Amino acid sequence: MVGRHKKLKIRFVPGNVEVVQEDVEIPDRRVLITGATGLLGRAVYKEFNENNWNAFGCGYSRARPRFEQVNLLETTAVHDIIEDFQPHLIVHCAAERRPDVVESHPESAFQLNVVVSERIAKEAAKVGAFLIYISTDYVFDGTSPPYLESGIPNPLNLYGKLKLEGEKAVLQNYEGAAVLRVPILYGDVEKLEESAVTILFDKVQFSNKPANMDHWQQRFPTHVKDVASVCRQLAERRLQDSSLKGIFHWSGNEQMTKYEIACAMADAFNLPSSHLRPLADGLVVGVLRPKNAQLDCSRLENLGIGQRTPFQTGIRESLWPFLIDKKWRQTVFH
Ligand SMILES: NC(=O)c1ccc[n+]([C@@H]2O[C@H](COP(=O)([O-])OP(=O)(O)OC[C@H]3O[C@@H](n4cnc5c(N)ncnc54)[C@H](OP(=O)(O)O)[C@@H]3O)[C@@H](O)[C@H]2O)c1
Repeated sequence: MVGRHKKLKIRFVPGNVEVVQEDVEIPDRRVLITGATGLLGRAVYKEFNENNWNAFGCGYSRARPRFEQVNLLETTAVHDIIEDFQPHLIVHCAAERRPDVVESHPESAFQLNVVVSERIAKEAAKVGAFLIYISTDYVFDGTSPPYLESGIPNPLNLYGKLKLEGEKAVLQNYEGAAVLRVPILYGDVEKLEESAVTILFDKVQFSNKPANMDHWQQRFPTHVKDVASVCRQLAERRLQDSSLKGIFHWSGNEQMTKYEIACAMADAFNLPSSHLRPLADGLVVGVLRPKNAQLDCSRLENLGIGQRTPFQTGIRESLWPFLIDKKWRQTVFH
């Protein structure tokens, strides 16, 4: 499914500049990725771009120069971009994903997480593009894990409620769409604060200060490149089987509290962990969170779809650039 297209290229030869036309191969399968500048969107863009899809990414504040800058909140933005690009697939990653920001800015979070998702579903249905709406394990209250796709959602905080409303808006307006729920994500970050997993690393590294870590909420840290691969596998399967739609779950399978995640990071880099203190009583500041919203992934597993990077491997790759004694280690080990 690869098409040949003409592209103009400028060729510099000493004393001369020529504009030549050359054939390039542009895959015919088009995927539009919203939130392509974000933690998950970057991995999704890379996965499709490297696997024979014509990937078009849009972002907002970080879009330039690599991606198209689109404010999805503008009324006609969704229509214009889908109409122009005519995608076969849309992976909708753009969202406000920080529960505390959602609580403090509920109206703008509602617009982005619900209204924009609904518009995307309507436009996707019009052009017949398969839509994957990324959702969260926070749609569940965490009292009776593991949760099947058919499990009854009962979100505890506004972020979970809005993501659930987004799911409903998508599925009500486009019954051929898919919802992919995922838990806490990590991967290649631009800064440590970009992921609720990697943000713990500074507290791990600065071992001269005791650090309290939540040891109550059960998490399943999941690498964004695994979610990206699952999106591609699902999309490619869907091209052959139009009955694939509705709700899907994907998750890493290593259960850890934030305290255990921090200890695993220390382990990965041979750093001390005795300054890390487990807080087992659930008294974590901020918005209410589910104790254990483990996602049952058997629907995708039974289709033979999936990928799981071991946490130790994934976290070492992701955090290596942020190690404060990196230079010293490079000198010693390389
Ligand atoms: N991160 C997690 O742990 C986690 C867990 C479960 C589910 N999820 C879900 O996974 C999806 C991706 O999350 P993420 O962690 O990748 O989020 P993220 O890193 O915060 O990225 C959010 C993306 O949304 C874009 N965006 C924000 N406002 C926009 C606007 N007005 N117009 C256009 N684009 C806008 C941002 O663009 P700019 O940055 O360029 O402004 C960015 O690309 C979300 O649906 C989230 O709910 C995330």
